[in-house]
Amino acid sequence: MRPRVFVTREIPGKGLEMIKQHFDVEVWSEYTAPPYEVILEKAGQVDALVTLLTDKIDCGLIEAGARNRLRIISQYAVGFDNIDIGCATRNGVYVTNTPGVLTDATADLTWALILATARRIVEADKFVRSGEWYETETGWHPMMMLGLEVHGATLGVIGMGRIGRAVARRARGFDMRVLYYDKYRLPEEAERSLCVSYVDLDTLLRESDVVTIHTPLTKETYHLIGENELRKMKPTAILVNTSRGKVIDTYALARALSEKWIAGAGLDVHEEEPLPPDHPLVKLDNVVLAPHIGSATHKTRARMAALVAENLIAFLNGEAPPTLVNREVVKVRSPGFK
Ligand code: GLV
Ligand code: GLV
Repeated sequence: MRPRVFVTREIPGKGLEMIKQHFDVEVWSEYTAPPYEVILEKAGQVDALVTLLTDKIDCGLIEAGARNRLRIISQYAVGFDNIDIGCATRNGVYVTNTPGVLTDATADLTWALILATARRIVEADKFVRSGEWYETETGWHPMMMLGLEVHGATLGVIGMGRIGRAVARRARGFDMRVLYYDKYRLPEEAERSLCVSYVDLDTLLRESDVVTIHTPLTKETYHLIGENELRKMKPTAILVNTSRGKVIDTYALARALSEKWIAGAGLDVHEEEPLPPDHPLVKLDNVVLAPHIGSATHKTRARMAALVAENLIAFLNGEAPPTLVNREVVKVRSPGFK
């Protein structure tokens, strides 16, 4: 009998076809997420789940699955803060993610937000469309829409993993000085080849013109950036986040932006997703908002789907999945559905 897999949303590319060659597949075909109760019920019936970052995979659900046939959760994302990893490991459930394949797309989107925020592109677009520019009767003015000069500025990268490093590499094209802060310091050689300097968070916040966040969401990074941190930033600086919304205390940020403790923010991720249209951030002109699209290119989303499939197929063949999150799980159960 072929193992069964429940996929919590339609995923693009050949990934799904790859899975269908080996598994009996059921895909949740609605655009909105399946309710928790649906995933819970499916977890008790299938051998494998393909999940998204919006699916809450808590210990109750994992245990309900593991008591039956659930052996692997293949997450369609690099982040996995929605999954209780410790619980999965204890129950012998493998968890995989999609690192690497989305690094460049996310770094590109980070740069799109840095430039859009620094040079006020969204505000400028609105200014043109609304007729406000026309009403000024001035084609060009020395004081119109002044922003932050990115070239030669100081970039502060919080979290120097794959994505942080890809963002830092791109900064060289802008002749920037790059500071970084991370729980782990890079080897000296890596620092030298990336042209980055390790500093503490305080120094990074005080000296950077652009602060960009690339940490996973953990207990330690929850609200890492709050009122104290925002008050340390320069009034001319901008803050960009393409990691997880909960790394920033949003209400402190909304105050920082409206009271001009900092000049602007570019946010792809939010504490509440989708962000409600009456949210305080939405009313501010000095913030550029995107709907969590860091990895949203045709190429990257297809590669993520293929990696999700490769993880499932390796497990099916009794091999360790290529991007296993909870490596300790191999001590609890060997890979394979038998
Ligand atoms: C997206 O946020 C991801 O974690 O892949
Ligand atoms: C994610 O791929 C990271 O390590 O930054």
